[in-house]
Amino acid sequence: MNAGVEMLKNYYRRIAKFSSAVSLLYWDMQTYIPKSGGPYRAETLAEISGYVFELSTSDELGALLESANPQDEVEEAIVRVGKREFDRFRKIPRKLFEEYVKASTLCEQAWQVAKTNNNFKLVEPYFKKVVELSREIAEKLGYEIDPYDALIDQFEPGMTAQKISRLFSELREFTLSILAEIEKASPAEDVLSGVEIDAERQKKFNEWLLDYLGFDRSKGRLDVSEHPFTTPVGLNDVRITTRYISDDLKNSIFSTIHEFGHALYSLSIPEEFYGLPIGSSASYGFDESQSRFWENIVGRSLAFWRGIHKNFIQLFPEFSSYDAHQLWRSVNIVKRSYIRTEADEITYNLHIILRFELEHALINRELDVKDIPLAWNEYFEKYLGLKVPSDRLGCLQDPHWYGGSFGYFPSYTLGNLYSAQIRASLSKELPLDQLVEEGKFEAIKSWLYEKIYSKGRIYEPEVLMEKISGEPPNIAHFQNYIKAKFEHAL
Ligand code: CO
Repeated sequence: MNAGVEMLKNYYRRIAKFSSAVSLLYWDMQTYIPKSGGPYRAETLAEISGYVFELSTSDELGALLESANPQDEVEEAIVRVGKREFDRFRKIPRKLFEEYVKASTLCEQAWQVAKTNNNFKLVEPYFKKVVELSREIAEKLGYEIDPYDALIDQFEPGMTAQKISRLFSELREFTLSILAEIEKASPAEDVLSGVEIDAERQKKFNEWLLDYLGFDRSKGRLDVSEHPFTTPVGLNDVRITTRYISDDLKNSIFSTIHEFGHALYSLSIPEEFYGLPIGSSASYGFDESQSRFWENIVGRSLAFWRGIHKNFIQLFPEFSSYDAHQLWRSVNIVKRSYIRTEADEITYNLHIILRFELEHALINRELDVKDIPLAWNEYFEKYLGLKVPSDRLGCLQDPHWYGGSFGYFPSYTLGNLYSAQIRASLSKELPLDQLVEEGKFEAIKSWLYEKIYSKGRIYEPEVLMEKISGEPPNIAHFQNYIKAKFEHAL
């Protein structure tokens, strides 16, 4: 027994209990809270979060980290990741942090109004402030070459703007070289859209789907929210949400499978890591790799649709004239469109690459806030070939920037790349398609547990990917996956 490390762990486990309360209050705010309860809930959240921040930056924690004396790889990781976070928090003056939280809260509210009114000007002054404070935070955090590196580091430890630029420009070239042909071969008609299906029936299917995938109901539940999300609330307690749009059945199905992937990762991290700095996913990109793995690689595969076809048409007899292949084609239509969250597996990454390039330029002072709509529309036409008709369908569509999150967007595309690289490694050891078609997900989960979930946050994403696949993150496996799926099969 290592007394120093034990004391450190107990300190972290105490913080985790307050964080758990914050998570539950947040989840409730997004799902069941009566409308008028919102403002007080926001105050409550700010108060407890402030307390968590105090605990996370205390001199007591600093001393515990200094004197811990770790003895093995796991203990070393606890201290290493713990110190990293502690240093980060301590580098930002309390006053600057509070100013940033306030400015981004106000800006997000202004964004809602600007989006409704389809007018970027309404959010511009608030957004300018958020960008200035984010630049200031990057300076305080410090960096070697590029201020953006300081910001992306909180989402993807070890990743830099330079590495992302390299990956993304290769990916952009590849995507643009195949897009037109795949788009042309895609079905013109989406048989699953436009058919009215009430929420009750959609719910029944989504609940069935979670049982089919093996979601442990003693450790989680499915609810409804405007934007689907996953919240790990506490040990053995993860909440996921979906949404039911009456004439868009696909929306709920793929939201549910996506969030299931996040929840599975969270629930599968070893219990003894819970509450510790290593007790979460390896990074935002890795977390997203798991939601994408289940949503796209499993859920959008022909094997999966063969496996669920009978149950699907039993509950939705209006689709009984379509076979599994037709339904599968319908969930894989490739078509350039304005909204990121509705994009297909191929064009999705173009939406992210554009956001990365713009936010990188913003943080580095190469782009002014006032020029965002123009720059957005220019890049959009260059990459997606479409003229953006309004800011609502352009630079106002996502909340991330206005809420002060810079460096977050790349994790979506990194997740796509990681998931394909993970698939390639898994496929060397397991007959993936066969297992998916037979609905035998246990073997897949065990593999993912052994390679990814059981490691928590011990390794940085690049190191973990090397351990899984023997290669650093790259786009080759995503290319192979996309080519095999779209060029030859559809
Ligand atoms: Co996600």
